[in-house]
Amino acid sequence: MQRPRRNRRSSAIRSMVRETSLEISNLILPLFFHEDADDVAIESMPGVTRWSLQGLVREAGEAHALGIPAVVLFPKINESLKSSDAKEAHREHGLVPKAIRAIKAAHPSLCVITDVALDPYNSDGHDGIVKKNADGSLVILNDETVEVLCRQALCHARAGADIVAPSEMMDGRVGAIREALDAKGFTDVSILSYTAKYASALYGPFRGALDSAPKDGDKKTYQMDPANVVEALREAGLDEAEGADMLMVKPASMYLDVISKLRESSCLPIAAYQVSGEYLMLKSVSAGGWIDERAAVMESLISIKRAGASMILTYYAKDAARWLRE
Ligand code: PBG
Repeated sequence: MQRPRRNRRSSAIRSMVRETSLEISNLILPLFFHEDADDVAIESMPGVTRWSLQGLVREAGEAHALGIPAVVLFPKINESLKSSDAKEAHREHGLVPKAIRAIKAAHPSLCVITDVALDPYNSDGHDGIVKKNADGSLVILNDETVEVLCRQALCHARAGADIVAPSEMMDGRVGAIREALDAKGFTDVSILSYTAKYASALYGPFRGALDSAPKDGDKKTYQMDPANVVEALREAGLDEAEGADMLMVKPASMYLDVISKLRESSCLPIAAYQVSGEYLMLKSVSAGGWIDERAAVMESLISIKRAGASMILTYYAKDAARWLRE
């Protein structure tokens, strides 16, 4: 008789036959910050803080000390600096370049990833430049946006970003950013492309954290339809041809099939973003006491890894790193 249970008999045997492992080096910590001098608890994401610059550098250092190789920066921009051309996105002495410089000065070996998209800077709250039609409908202008994204990526590169991560799903942006970076000598700055970013309900707590929700309309004309997976393969092919170094799927847990298909079809490393709504679901469901938070979080992370992601952006990165060290 075949007895698969023999391979589950003891912890030692289970560890030998385990197919997937989660390492601290797989984890990437997203960080929120603002211009203010205080560190503020984010209401929409219990346990997550919006840091002052000083707090941000300290938090990045703690993550680094735990063995987390990279952080991703998400700024909350003062309302007075937002405009319809989002020019704050590429101001040389803006909040993000300041943060990159401060983190790099304190922790040179920590990999700094930046988000390339206009929503925190745009008075419209959209990821791209918005044109309003006479009938009130909105158009997100693709090529005009890509020009601004190139400037933003260059601004981040000049400040010392290791990886820029375009997250706005405009067409042709990876190729344009690659060309802009190369032309200025930043041939070593990598592009982590949000290849398959879905128009998901799970970004709500993030938009609450940054006050970056679209003022009008939704993001369905640029972010992907949750019903599609073949389209993700098309996006991946384009990003790869345009020079992306890594591909991202977002959100993670409801899109494991997408991660797995991209892993099979691409030679590039795959990242997955366990987004704010996934974080909030795990937090709130375990607050009830019926689900063990640590076990549920580790299960969610190993499933994302098993599906084929080698990098996982998660608000649980520090907790998971501590648990992996125990
Ligand atoms: C926008 C951006 C979003 C997230 C990361 N970059 C929100 C959006 O598309 O509206 C969401 C991340 C999360 O929910 O944790 N450029």
